[in-house]
Amino acid sequence: MKQFLSVHDVPDLPGLVQEALWLKQNPYADENLGRHKTLGLLFFNASLRTRLSTQKAAENLGMKVMVMNVTTDSWGLEFEDGAIMNGNKAEHVKEAAAVVGQYCDIIGVRSFPSLTDREKDYQEQVIKQFVKYAGVPILSLESATRHPLQSFTDLITIEETKTVARPKVVLTWAPHVKALPQAVPNSFAEWMNAADVDFVITHPEGYALAPEFSGNARITHNQREAFEGADFIYAKNWSSYETYGQIINSDPAWMITQEKMGLTNQAKFMHCLPVRRNLVVEDAVLDSANSIVIQEAGNRVWAAQAVLKRMLQA
Ligand code: CP
Repeated sequence: MKQFLSVHDVPDLPGLVQEALWLKQNPYADENLGRHKTLGLLFFNASLRTRLSTQKAAENLGMKVMVMNVTTDSWGLEFEDGAIMNGNKAEHVKEAAAVVGQYCDIIGVRSFPSLTDREKDYQEQVIKQFVKYAGVPILSLESATRHPLQSFTDLITIEETKTVARPKVVLTWAPHVKALPQAVPNSFAEWMNAADVDFVITHPEGYALAPEFSGNARITHNQREAFEGADFIYAKNWSSYETYGQIINSDPAWMITQEKMGLTNQAKFMHCLPVRRNLVVEDAVLDSANSIVIQEAGNRVWAAQAVLKRMLQA
């Protein structure tokens, strides 16, 4: 795998899922594969899980890891080609990416969207400029429109906990007080559409995802109907794609409750974390035996390790 920006970079999805589950049982089997190789992790936004799990995965493969919080610790970067740099940006990505590429064999980049300019966000300028100028493979740690390491983790977790061959998986919008990116739901939809699951999306009116992500999923504005018979409930808030970046609904009736979980086929509850308790999901669900959010977060290591392994072997 030359790069990992989306599910489209994965030539053999079932094979990669099995690889990750095998690595979970054999974490040090490839501890020399990354010897004398360096992974650079560049964060333009905060992270707990992605940062620590990717670092651990790389170390399991014998890699050295360099981590930088770019926004606080480095120079302000200009991403526009041809820009007249007379503002507050001190360095162009053309040099910055190329320089990091001199130090690293693979570079991971996390950068969130502006949520103010849909066209620009969906062009994925930041990660694409790293691909263009770094000279080494790029690993997405979450970009403006996708979070592929999270979605791969989610698929691994579904695979290892499902009790029926083709589970019903429901992605449900939930309320929030902040305008959040569409990256996690976009990506989750993209990966579920590529997997062998019965996939349903439920959200209030005005929260439709971009069609290239929702694909062939069944979509309903009736959350209770969506929950009926579900094997997995995947909750996430996102801001509107149509009324771009806006909160147009904060109805607490969309919170995930134990009463609604009772409509399902004893569904497992999933969330990428971090999650706001008793806003997105009530304590009773998150603290129940059916919540697999910690197992899910733990699987971030095996997803990252499987992807890094394929990138090192490319
Ligand atoms: N789910 C996830 O990506 O978590 P972090 O933002 O903490 O990395």
